[in-house]
Amino acid sequence: MSPSQITVETDRPYQVVVGRGLLGEFQASMPPDTKRLMILFDPVVAGPIPALVDELRRDGFEVHLLAVPSGEDAKNVAVAAAAWQRLGEASFTRADVIVGVGGGSTTDLAGFVAATWLRGVPVVQVPTTLLAMVDAAIGGKTGINTDEGKNMVGAFHQPAAVLSDQQFLDTLPTAEIVSGMAEIIKAGLVADPGILDVVWSGPQETLSPASPLLTELIRRAVAVKAEVVAEDPAESGRRTILNYGHTFGHAIEQVERFSWRHGEAVAVGMVFAAEVSVRAGLMDPSLLGLHRELLAAVGLPIAYNSGRWERLWPAMRRDKKNQGKTRRMVLLQDVGKPVVVRDIPESLLAEAYQAVSAVPGAAPYPVKTAPDYSLENPYGTPTYVPPLDDDLDGDIGGDPGGGVAT
Ligand SMILES: NC(=O)c1ccc[n+]([C@@H]2O[C@H](COP(=O)([O-])OP(=O)(O)OC[C@H]3O[C@@H](n4cnc5c(N)ncnc54)[C@H](O)[C@@H]3O)[C@@H](O)[C@H]2O)c1
Repeated sequence: MSPSQITVETDRPYQVVVGRGLLGEFQASMPPDTKRLMILFDPVVAGPIPALVDELRRDGFEVHLLAVPSGEDAKNVAVAAAAWQRLGEASFTRADVIVGVGGGSTTDLAGFVAATWLRGVPVVQVPTTLLAMVDAAIGGKTGINTDEGKNMVGAFHQPAAVLSDQQFLDTLPTAEIVSGMAEIIKAGLVADPGILDVVWSGPQETLSPASPLLTELIRRAVAVKAEVVAEDPAESGRRTILNYGHTFGHAIEQVERFSWRHGEAVAVGMVFAAEVSVRAGLMDPSLLGLHRELLAAVGLPIAYNSGRWERLWPAMRRDKKNQGKTRRMVLLQDVGKPVVVRDIPESLLAEAYQAVSAVPGAAPYPVKTAPDYSLENPYGTPTYVPPLDDDLDGDIGGDPGGGVAT
């Protein structure tokens, strides 16, 4: 199947190329006149890199390589500082290009380093997880984690190009594919009913890395994100709809201390948001049923019972979609009809929590997200664990205490 190209129409429009075996097109995705590159990569996906580097060097490019820690450990100021040091040693200029090869953690780091070096150099993203292909690598949100919380330090910096090579998914654990599917289903729910039809046509088949259904889903989810980002690059308006399911999802991530995969938390978060939407009189209950069936069909969790509303609620009150003391949450009226609702009463949210936790088997979802691959971390940075604030129900405007920004 020939690759698809989706344009993100920002100030400087860029292409997202989706297909299999795309590394042959790598040079074509570089900004014109590129001569020097620094590739920041997750060692887990290093396989194709030597051949790519050989080819680039044969063709006259100066290529620098920097392996960064796998997964979330990459999003650390010590890793960013190591990258800045290497860029300084290589006398990197604004005519040179940073490339991020890895999952959303790597592309967030590479984007952040590119945004901050010389106040902005081009970055080309090569996402290698499903989540990064349909979400993290597109749209220009970059960042790292600090003691103040996840993604609390970052910048908007659109990539120069995104190359989504489905071949990378061949080595991705199924649980990571399932997690990425949550963001695809979210894109369907908020903007493209066709996505939901494709998932329904073969929920298990969509999880197969080589499946044409998966190609179609990636293409459609990228198109949704591209369209929304083009309209609202700096997330000051419509882009908020992409946070459907994230208010409760982020609360789960915090309460479970980031031991859940992002997509898993967002899946339960969408069921929660649908429960709220029904209770607020916005959504027909049949659509709530569709949420449960579709998410469960691809193996995503649809229920969660921490027994800790008193911790979830303050985490939701600190959500970054809130403005000042006004809480904001994305709800759904119908497929493709999201709405942002303000200050939903706690009693209604607590009822929705009762509903998502009342489902049989809704004990804390038995997931473990520690990478299946243990790689030495040359930076000695710990896996990101936010400081657990025992007093999570502090003031709304208080210390973020290990919060999460989207
Ligand atoms: N910038 C944005 O708009 C945005 C949006 C969503 C999420 N994010 C960020 O993305 C990050 C999560 O991204 P992710 O889920 O891609 O996680 P990740 O980058 O942490 O990767 C997950 C795991 O998969 C491994 N991996 C990556 N590619 C692989 C492959 N092809 N084969 C085998 N293993 C592979 C990684 O080493 C890691 O252990 C979070 O930090 C989140 O904050 C950013």
